[in-house]
Order: sequence, then C-alpha cells, then structure tokens
Amino acid sequence: MKKVTLLLSLIALTLFSGYKAENPLYKDAKQPIEKRIEDLLARMTLEEKVMQLNQFTLGRNDNANNMADPVNDIPAQIGSLIYFGSNADLRNKVQKKAMEQSRLGIPIIFGYDVIHGFRTIYPISLAQACAWNPKLVEQACGVAAQEARMSGVDWTFSPMIDVARDGRWGRVAEGYGEDPYTNAVFTVASVKGYQGKDMSSEKNVAACLKHYVGYGASEAGRDYVYSEISRQTLWDTYMLPYEQGVKAGAATLMSSFNDISGTPGSANHYTLTEVLKNRWKHDGFVVSDWGSIEQLRPQGVAANKKEAALKAFIAGVEMDMMNRCYDNHLGQLVTEGKVPENLLNDAVRRVLRVKFRLGLFDRPYTRTTTEKQRFYLPESMKIAEQLAEESIVLLKNQNKTLPLNKAAKIAVIGPIAQTKWHLLGSWAAQGNAEDVTTVVDALKAEYKGKAEVTYALGCDFDGQDKKNFEEAKNVAANADVVVLCLGEKKNWSGENASRSTIALPQIQEELAVELKKLGKPVILVLSSGRPLELNRLEPISDAILTMWHPGTPGGKPLARVLSGRVNPSGKLSMTFPYSTGQIPIYYNYRQSARPHQGKYQDIQSTPLYEFAHGLSYTTFQYGDLKVSATQIKRGEKLTVEIPVSNTGDRDGVETVHWFIQDPVSTISRPIKELKYFEKQLVKKGETKIYQFDIDPERDLSFVDGDGKRFLETGDYNILVKNKKIKIEIVD
Ligand code: GLC
Repeated sequence: MKKVTLLLSLIALTLFSGYKAENPLYKDAKQPIEKRIEDLLARMTLEEKVMQLNQFTLGRNDNANNMADPVNDIPAQIGSLIYFGSNADLRNKVQKKAMEQSRLGIPIIFGYDVIHGFRTIYPISLAQACAWNPKLVEQACGVAAQEARMSGVDWTFSPMIDVARDGRWGRVAEGYGEDPYTNAVFTVASVKGYQGKDMSSEKNVAACLKHYVGYGASEAGRDYVYSEISRQTLWDTYMLPYEQGVKAGAATLMSSFNDISGTPGSANHYTLTEVLKNRWKHDGFVVSDWGSIEQLRPQGVAANKKEAALKAFIAGVEMDMMNRCYDNHLGQLVTEGKVPENLLNDAVRRVLRVKFRLGLFDRPYTRTTTEKQRFYLPESMKIAEQLAEESIVLLKNQNKTLPLNKAAKIAVIGPIAQTKWHLLGSWAAQGNAEDVTTVVDALKAEYKGKAEVTYALGCDFDGQDKKNFEEAKNVAANADVVVLCLGEKKNWSGENASRSTIALPQIQEELAVELKKLGKPVILVLSSGRPLELNRLEPISDAILTMWHPGTPGGKPLARVLSGRVNPSGKLSMTFPYSTGQIPIYYNYRQSARPHQGKYQDIQSTPLYEFAHGLSYTTFQYGDLKVSATQIKRGEKLTVEIPVSNTGDRDGVETVHWFIQDPVSTISRPIKELKYFEKQLVKKGETKIYQFDIDPERDLSFVDGDGKRFLETGDYNILVKNKKIKIEIVD
C-alpha cells in the first residue's frame, strides 16, 4: 500500500511541477490581477523590465510632426507600439511574435490617436463641448473605442483635456475649451465612453489623459514652448480635468511638452509623482509625449539622453514614447544605482496592470472582422450626425434671416463649400474624406424640389488670387441669398499649427466684401478648428453660424439647420475675441483693480461673442432665480432653480449655464465660475424648471496653490445669464 501511495505522490508531484512550468500563475486568468503581476514581475530580467517601458511605432506613421526612424526589427519584448493600421492583421502578426518568441510571452499594448473618432469621425472636441451633451460625447467615445479596438488598437491617446484660452494655439481644437469645469465634465464622459465598465471588452480601449499638464498655456499660442503657470493657476485652472479623469479611472496619462515655469511637464516630480501617484493614488501609468523626454535637452534640464532618461523616470514618466532614451539608458541607470530597482519595478507593475485590465494576457489577438462589421454602423453615424448638429452654434441671426425657407435660388460660395478633406479636422485618425458630404451636396439634397442651389468657389483658403471672384459674383447676383462658406484648412489647427492671427486670410474677407455689394442677404457659415476674428465679417453678414470641423457628417447637419429642420442649440465653449490683439480673453477672468478703466484705446475690450453664447430659432425667457435658503451652515446644501419659457413659435433645446461668484475671498477669484450646466427641450409655449443642487464644498470652494480646497463663510452669488441671487454661508 505504501509503495502505491509513494508512486501516486511522485506522479502528482511531477504533474504539478510540470503544470507549474507550462502554466505559470501570471497566465492563469482565474488568479487576481495583482497576484499575476507579482508572479510575472518576479520572473522578469532587468532587460525585460526595461523593454516594457518603451514604445516604438508600427505601420506608416501619419503624423508629419513626429518623423523619426522607425524601429524596423521590433523586439519581441517591446512593451508598446503606436499602431497606424486600420485592421488588426499587422498588429496580430507582431503580437504573435511577442507571445511566442519572447521568453515570458508578455503581450504588447497598441496605442493610437483616436481623438474624435477612428473611422467614423465626429466633430472636433472643441465643437463637441459646444453641444453641452456629456451623454452624447460618452456615446461617441464608445463608438470610437469599438471601431479602434476591433481594428487592433487597445489604447487611445485621448481625451485631450488642456484648458486653453489662446486661439492662436492650434491645439485648442483638440480640447474642450477655456473652462476647467467644462473640460472636467467631458473628461469624465470620454473616459467612461472609452473604457466602459470593463476595459477587457473588445469594445473598449484604455484612455489617456493628456497633456499633463498646462500645455494650453503655451506662451503666445506657440506650440512646444514655455508656459508660465503659477501654482495657484496650476490648481485653479489646469488640474481639475486631470483630477476628475483619474477619479473616473483613466488608465493612463501622457506627460506634456511644455516647460511648466522652469520644470518641464515630462520631468515634473511634483505633478507626476507627488500629486498624481501619492495624492491621487493613480495606479496606471504615464507615457511621455513623442520626444518629450529627449526634448529635456533643448529645454536645458538634461545634458544628454541618459540624463533625460534619469530625470523623466525619477519624476514619474513610466513609458518612453519614441525617445529612444529608456531602451538605451534605463538599464544602465539601474545597474549604476541611479534608478532604484523598486522604482523600476513599480513602473513595470503599472504597465502590466493596464495590460492585464485590458485582458491582453488572456486575449492578446484582435478578432478578425470586416470593415462593414466595425465601421460606420448605423448607430455610429446617428451619433455622429446628432453631435455635429448639436455642436453648431448660431452666432448671429439678424431679422430672422434663418431658417432659410423662402429662397428660390441659393448661391453657395467659398473654399469650404465643396471640400471634404478639410471638414474632417485635425487628428482625423482613419477617417476617409471620400465619405464626407460636402456643404454643396448636402444643401442640394436638403432643398431638392424646394430651391435651386448653385455653387462657385470664389477663392481659395488663402493667397491673393481673385480670378474666381467674377464667377462668384455672377452666381450670387442670380440668387436670392448667399451662403458664404469660409474657414480653415484641416492642418491650420491641431499640433504644430500656431497662427499669429485668428482672422481668416484676407482673400476670404475680400470675397465677402465683394459679395455683400450685391445687396443680397449673406449667411456666413464657418468651419474652423479655433475661434475666429470676425469683427470685419460680422457687419456684412446677416447671419453667422459655425459648424467647426464637423467630421464625417460634413455639411449634412448644417443643411438641416439652415433649412430649419433642426433648431440650432450649440453654445460656445470658447470665447470669440473681437480681435486677436485681445488674446488671452476668456469669461472667468479676475476683476481689474479699476473695472471701468484700463480699456483698449483703439478697440472694444469685450469679446465679439462670449463664452456660452449661442442663439436659437426660437426665443427663451428666463424667469427669476429661486433659492431653497438664503443662508446655510457649513455642511448644508441648497438648491437654486430658474424657470425658462419658450416664448417663440417653435420647440427648442436650451442649455442653462450656472455660474457662482465669490465677491470677497482670501484670494482674488474669477468674476464668475461655471459649476453646472443643464440642457432641456422646451416646447413652444412651455416653461421648464432648471435646477442646480449646490454642494458648497464642491461648488463654492476654491483651491490654493497646493490643491487644498477651502470653503469660506460669507456671501456668494449664483448667476444665470444676467440674473443673480445672493446666498450666505455661516459657521
Ligand atoms: C504628438 C502629440 C500627442 C500624440 C503623440 C502620438 O506629438 O503631442 O498628442 O498623442 O504625439 O501621436
């Protein structure tokens, strides 16, 4: 009996140990992620750990700003690749190499810039914010995530959440405008949309909050430059979207290019470690921006790539995006004792944690699907069209020029009228221009059988060539109304796209002046990636709308708005200055010591169109603010409400923006701060109540220069449009 027991034990031992070798714990999907991480980490060599912290590129790099020699023979141990493919074939091929030719079979995480859509391209983010519809933005990000993940991309370098107040900076197009709260709300919506409830689903991707932090403060709107940001401004303007994004569970962040008052974003231990890791307890990882580690050299804080690697890694950047700093120097820095092993291990843990949460160890390959199965699904296009409709902002509508439903002949003129490519906007990922509907085609379809639509180019986007003016004037002369479509090229905004003025090129304004001489109503349609200087175009336009860069839907949403089938509801997420010379100009400025002096001598000191400006085809009347208590103690809450009546002749959707004001505080506070917004359909003749449930700790407090929040006793004002009601906080 004993011999049998011994024999069985030996067999069991052999089987078990053999089992252990072929199926180590980290490959066991039933084990908790943290145990799998520790098991794998314990098996890794220094070289394998370092390689997990590097990202190269795979496929044709389509970002002209970041040309670098691709790594052609990609090592099987590489941690991440930026993937430029639109299907999963190449990605799966390289993943197979990682799974089968590396010692431990650690899957690669594939990233890409899915900023406002993958193949179905949504309006640019600045436009999306003008829709004030976080649920819809979440849905749009959900579709973008699904198209991306099913095409082989596990991780998007999005949302871009840099508060920006200088339209000369091309990247204002990528974020959600000038306001910290607005950016925070859309950060949360985007993270939820991208990551869903389970990142391992083939419909979700890991999000990446970028560019951490303060990139939007780039001096004079120039890209990649110094940003003067006091600690107070860092916290009360730039940090909120990141804090909310981390709270929402964003898997990763991207460190920024800009020098934050002497310490570049990619070497900033305070932001990257003291705040992000130690205070906010972020347990994912930070990837550098492309080159932002190596760029510590021109920024003057590193003498060479090895020192750049040291500074960035110690500061808290876990992954090196195409700097070739970590792969070449990090291992040596560890061996030399300059980088502590435990810091290296923590960085690798963070990368592995995101890979495990994405399910890449258990499902490393992307399921093969056809383009029909993953792109332009009916639901995707419906969301894209709705978001594009809701992001259109009616800036001016003199004498009810719009909606356009009486004209028999409509002349559509200008460089935006017939373009497809430029309507996609910057960072258009795998968007196909041929799938975009031009403004002309959309209007022809919209007015089929109702009006004749004619077209003339008029002029190019820029240059001095007026050879097409005559034809445009003839087409306009034979029409009842001119729809003048002006704006920006796709690459005039986005990265490395700073402009010294936000005015349109002179040729476009001259065309407008010539057409106005014909005495026809002029409807100015704008398509751009930034607010524009319109002080010369405004007086010659009877109506003005911006559709921003609308994405794949192109001119279709605009056509529905012009015809009146859709009542515009968009409101500006960024101020339209009267002149470039006013920049920076934004709604939540701090009060002047002499509010009635210090004005410009040569132009007005107010913007042309304010933050949250936007008209409707109907009219809304705001009633009086009503508050549940005029005085509350700390810890108590209160509710404010306002009735809004639709006094026009058609249904309309109205967004109410709730601002707070603290007229006297320990620090000087902005003259008003957006703290809530609500969007509702108000049918004609109907009155709807809009309500703001105020939590004073959240909504009335301010942060100091180290992010500590203070709620002070005293008077506060709650503002809606030109209405104001005072409340008091007492101890
Ligand atoms: C670029 C951009 C960043 C982008 C990255 C990868 O330089 O700054 O937003 O995600 O490189 O393309």
